[in-house]
Amino acid sequence: MNIALVLAAGSGTRMNANQPKQFIVVNGKPLFIYSVEKFQNNQNVDAIVIATNKENITKVEELVKGYNKVKSVIAGGKTRQQSVYNGIQEIAKLITSEKDLILIHDSARPLVSDAIIDENIALGKRYGAVDTVVQASDTIINSKNKETINETLNRSELYQAQTPQTFEYGIIRKAHKRALLDNIPNVTDDCKLVMNFGVEVHFAKGDKFNFKVTTPEDLELFKALLK
Ligand code: CTP
Ligand code: MG
Repeated sequence: MNIALVLAAGSGTRMNANQPKQFIVVNGKPLFIYSVEKFQNNQNVDAIVIATNKENITKVEELVKGYNKVKSVIAGGKTRQQSVYNGIQEIAKLITSEKDLILIHDSARPLVSDAIIDENIALGKRYGAVDTVVQASDTIINSKNKETINETLNRSELYQAQTPQTFEYGIIRKAHKRALLDNIPNVTDDCKLVMNFGVEVHFAKGDKFNFKVTTPEDLELFKALLK
C-alpha cells in the first residue's frame, strides 16, 4: 500500500494571514485541497491521511467529503515532527505490511506532480527512504551574525529538499520513536530523523514548481501560475 500523509496542521506565521495558510482560498479551493487532489488522482496512491489543527478537523472533514481515498483527518501536533508522528500512529491502522510506503507531503506544496509522486513510490519500493530534491541554482552562503558572510558553499554539492519524502512504514516509525526517546521534538525534515537512524536516503527529482507556499510572495506566484 502507498499512503499519503498530507500535513496541514501548521499556523503559517510567515504568511501573515488571518488564518493558517492551508485554508487560504485560491480559485475557490483552500490551499491544502490542491495537494489532496494530486494524491487522490494519482493511480499509485491507495489512501490519504490528513493532519490538521485540532479546531479545524470537522471543517477539513467537510471539505474532503468527495475524496474517497481520504481515510481519516487527525489532529497534528505543535511541531511538524509531532504532526508526522501523529500521522504515523494513525497510519498504523491502515497498513498491511511494514514495507508499505508513506509519502509525507507539505500541503503548502500545491503543485506537486504525478511524475514526482510516481518516482517517490518507485524509489521508495527499491530503497525504503526517498527525498525529493532540486539542485540549488542560487549560490548559498552561510552567515552566523545575519549580516556578513562566513562561508560561500559549493553550489554543485547543494540541493533543496522538497516533499514528498517517502519511507517504508517500518523505517519512519522506528526513526520517529527513536527521536522521541532521544528528546528530539522539532526536526522539520523527516530525512534527518531517518539518517540519524543510519538509513541512506535516495533522491527523487523535484522541480521548481513544487515550491512551498511560505510567504505572501509565494502565494502571489502560485496564483499567477494557476492562470
Ligand atoms: N505543519 C504541520 N504541523 C505543524 C507545523 C507545520 O502539519 N505543527 C505543516 C504545515 O501545515 C505545512 C508543512 O508542515 O504544510 C510545512 O511547514 P511550513 O511551511 O513551515 O508551514 P507552517 O509551519 O504553517 O508555517 P510557518 O513556519 O511560517 O509558521
Ligand atoms: Mg513551520
